[in-house]
Amino acid sequence: MLTFGWHNFCDMMNDTSPKPRILVAGGTGYIGSHTVVELIQSGYEVTIIDDLSNSNASVIEGIAEITGHRPDFVKCDCADFAAVDKVFSDNEDIKAVINFAAFKAVGESVQRPLAYYRNNLNIILNLLDSMTRHGVKGFVFSSSCTVYGQPDENPVTESSPVKKALSPYGNTKQIAEEIISDAITSGAALDAVILRYFNPVGAHPSSLIGEMPNGVPLNLVPYLTQAAIGIRKELSVFGDDYDTPDGTCIRDYIDITDLAKAHVCAIDRIMGGRMAAPMEVFNIGTGRGVSVRELIDTFQSATGVEVPHRIASRRAGDIAKVWADPTKANDVLGWHATVPLGDTLLNAWKWQLALRQRGIQ
Ligand code: UFG
Repeated sequence: MLTFGWHNFCDMMNDTSPKPRILVAGGTGYIGSHTVVELIQSGYEVTIIDDLSNSNASVIEGIAEITGHRPDFVKCDCADFAAVDKVFSDNEDIKAVINFAAFKAVGESVQRPLAYYRNNLNIILNLLDSMTRHGVKGFVFSSSCTVYGQPDENPVTESSPVKKALSPYGNTKQIAEEIISDAITSGAALDAVILRYFNPVGAHPSSLIGEMPNGVPLNLVPYLTQAAIGIRKELSVFGDDYDTPDGTCIRDYIDITDLAKAHVCAIDRIMGGRMAAPMEVFNIGTGRGVSVRELIDTFQSATGVEVPHRIASRRAGDIAKVWADPTKANDVLGWHATVPLGDTLLNAWKWQLALRQRGIQ
């Protein structure tokens, strides 16, 4: 197999030959849009497919303003095989696929399990089928630390046991990982990188793209910024009686731009022919566990803005503590978390202010 280092690869891309095109499914969403920015800034051509069911086409403008380059966009329901396959037929230069397209609300998945299984698994199957038909091998899948459940030990490594999923949403991540693995075992020509994200937070430092929760936010940071700006009365801290130093839950909060860059490292590895196995799994986290209380304190120090909050009862299904061992991603992908949490939370706050300025929230 022809292999070359990333620097040679960059040299190759500096010539006039066409740059590899990456198909980003779900590319107008929160993680997808930040990843598209990093891909473009690293020299890749990007085609986004998204049905805009949980995002807005205005995100494309933000990406174009940040990068000076407008990615191709096709409005497409990724759960519709014919629609997905047409995108591959129309773009013969697609070299790899990153999938972000999925329903992602944990609580809703408990209420509507069949919709979650149908949508999230059809998307994976459609993408893998079309990739096979069109000879595309590279695949990056967004998985989650949810596959570890409540780990017996922290930090978790990629070989920590995968626990029974606590929700249909979490189960779709586990099943998708198994589908990819089974496809490879059966001989499918794939180079698949599975990224298990910890808790993605923050926004692009330009405040041109960020998270746009639909309705009442379910995750900590968007709720916190909405409470800080006065959209919500106060943040409820779900439980202060956990077996942790300050009693609140501990997570590994990873900056969204750092997380986006992990996808570029994965694509570089695939495109550079450097995969050590057809499927590689990486934890993408900082390696640092942060409690809810610590996160509120860090936000307040970074922004000078008070967060109205109160202690509430535990939220069903929450695990007490989980954080990553990112050593494998550091050593093998050459990826490192770089942004301090205070900067990340300041970016989240600036994004909240930008949304207000634009009259969105
Ligand atoms: N929290 C609060 N108040 C809130 C929201 C959250 O105290 O209003 C706490 C939670 O109890 C938890 C921490 O903040 O301790 C983080 O909660 P998030 O909802 O932001 O994130 P989770 O760790 O629950 O969710 C993450 C991912 C999901 C994934 C899930 C699996 O965001 O995609 O882990 O457990 F499915």
